[in-house]
Amino acid sequence: MIRRAALAPAALVFILSGYGLLDANATQPTVDATAARGRIYLNPMGVALSADGRRAYVALGGVNVVATVDLASGQIVRRYDTGLHPREVYRDGSTLYVVDDESETLAIDLATGAATREGPRSKDDEAHSPMAVILSSRRTESVGLAALADPAWTDQARDRVSDQVFNNVLAGGLPANQLVGAIGAMGAFGGIIGFRQAVGSLDTGRLGVADPADVAWSAPFRTLFVASSGSDVVLAYPTKTIEAKVTTASQQGGQFSGALGFAGGNSQTGWGGVATSVPLPMSRPIVLQTRSNPQRMALSDDGRTLVTSDTLADSLTVISIDHRGARVVKQISLGGPPPDARRRGEVLFHSSRLTFNGRFTCASCHPGGGTDNRVWDTPTEDPGPRRTKPLFGVAETAPYGWHGDSPTLADRVRKTVRKLHRGSPTPDQVSDLVAFLTSLPAPKPSPLTEDELQLAARGRRLFEIKGRCGRCHPGDTYQDGDLHDVGYGGAFRTPSLRGASQRTRFLHDGRAASVQDLFRNYNGLKRHGAAHELSPKELQAVIAFVKAL
Ligand code: HEC
Ligand code: HEC
Repeated sequence: MIRRAALAPAALVFILSGYGLLDANATQPTVDATAARGRIYLNPMGVALSADGRRAYVALGGVNVVATVDLASGQIVRRYDTGLHPREVYRDGSTLYVVDDESETLAIDLATGAATREGPRSKDDEAHSPMAVILSSRRTESVGLAALADPAWTDQARDRVSDQVFNNVLAGGLPANQLVGAIGAMGAFGGIIGFRQAVGSLDTGRLGVADPADVAWSAPFRTLFVASSGSDVVLAYPTKTIEAKVTTASQQGGQFSGALGFAGGNSQTGWGGVATSVPLPMSRPIVLQTRSNPQRMALSDDGRTLVTSDTLADSLTVISIDHRGARVVKQISLGGPPPDARRRGEVLFHSSRLTFNGRFTCASCHPGGGTDNRVWDTPTEDPGPRRTKPLFGVAETAPYGWHGDSPTLADRVRKTVRKLHRGSPTPDQVSDLVAFLTSLPAPKPSPLTEDELQLAARGRRLFEIKGRCGRCHPGDTYQDGDLHDVGYGGAFRTPSLRGASQRTRFLHDGRAASVQDLFRNYNGLKRHGAAHELSPKELQAVIAFVKAL
């Protein structure tokens, strides 16, 4: 039974990378090999526990290692070089599955240490997995998406979750962080695919639960754990209700419909029926303090030990559970370099510490430094619906904001923290955030097939000459740093076209869904370059070029 397989990238497709196991006896992850490239943080991501809860297997995203940590001594006792960028680890009996961002999977036999190839698993293998609660917040679909990486789900989710414009984020406009769930047996291909429904609000009074990232459920102690990566806490909700529902659901083998929330009318899984929504009584949680950015949690089979991977603190938090409740018993430092300005900025970016009600972080809207592809009306000097800009390569594209109001990143950061987060940043905090933003690499161009390459090459010439696009979208960054009125209700700052393929919304107010949509449906005024003078075929080539940036 692979509990979180349901959240893993579409199934367990394993491509043998030939790395297997290296030096299983080494006791420290090798930071040295990469030290020449600057500080390499360990970034513990996924975490799994041995059956007896004594050892944690931790995917160290920074160094491509899975470390076995002895929880009693806090030592790394074994180390597997995975050769992939490990995001998640799952233990299934005595096999450890390591899954990377692209759903490549390495299966490690924990007894022998041998790494083996695993084909895609059939749905039936997963049919009994009782992991039945997922978590997401309306804003951070990435919670589900990053792990799920299922385009079908992504598209559906996007259709369902309409963009809403919130006039003043601080007037309560931001949706609450919610427990969003699916109940039933979840398969690798996704019981959670295609449906989501609020179960209950996580935010209570003054306690914001920013960027919920993971859930775990201890059946023996009837406790639901929610990791709030933005608030650096784990919340423990004692609840009998959830247990009852989950048990019923898993007994029904996934044919669940009714009672709690929802079942999905989803053609892929064949689950039918729309259920009534019954909000769970969210009792007052116990608040357990972790170190920075708890991304993932693992629970021992007996439900007594919970371990969080505190991603931006290179550490683990060990929580003990019994009938009296849950408490933090220790924090284990995994090593790694002391934080520099960039890392401190990264921590602030992912933290709700500077946010007045603690409910969101920079990463809530800029997940991973990118964009949530949503439209917000933030209380800055530039009111109106504005699409979140991705921040990759942002150092090269001053001035900032859709109206270019900020000449420097420091100015932009200061204004955002003051006006949107209602915080008072110190000069050091501002410069740390700037150091982090400056370190974000430019977006990678999307890979093209041979045919697409040819089309894009033709498109490049048309872009420069006939389409006159290069006038405002020049150079490597494809932007001129200036404001122009190209027919969308005022003058806006030319956006960089780098990373265009990664956007699902275009223009300052997100009105266009694709580059194609932009030029087909939103160029009525014929002011956007000379796009209107291009033949449909020529336009197609230009679009292919832009989409490849
Ligand atoms: C509520 C969502 C939200 C939050 C939270 C948020 N941003 Fe933004 N961000 C946006 C939107 C929307 C824009 C574009 C708005 C504009 O330019 O007027 C933007 C633009 C930016 C830009 C300018 C990018 C460019 O190329 O012009 C920077 C830099 C930035 N954000 C950094 C941050 C930082 C740092 C934080 C945390 C302190 C943060 N943002 C928090 C939504 C958000
Ligand atoms: C006169 C300057 C100018 C010219 C010429 C120009 N653009 Fe733009 N472009 C802009 C501005 C300004 C925006 C932002 C408008 C808005 O958001 O309201 C923009 C937005 C875009 C966007 C949307 C990017 C995003 O992230 O929202 C794309 C794609 C684009 N332009 C492609 C082109 C192409 C292709 C051409 C040539 C046919 C072209 N542009 C010609 C100024 C120009």
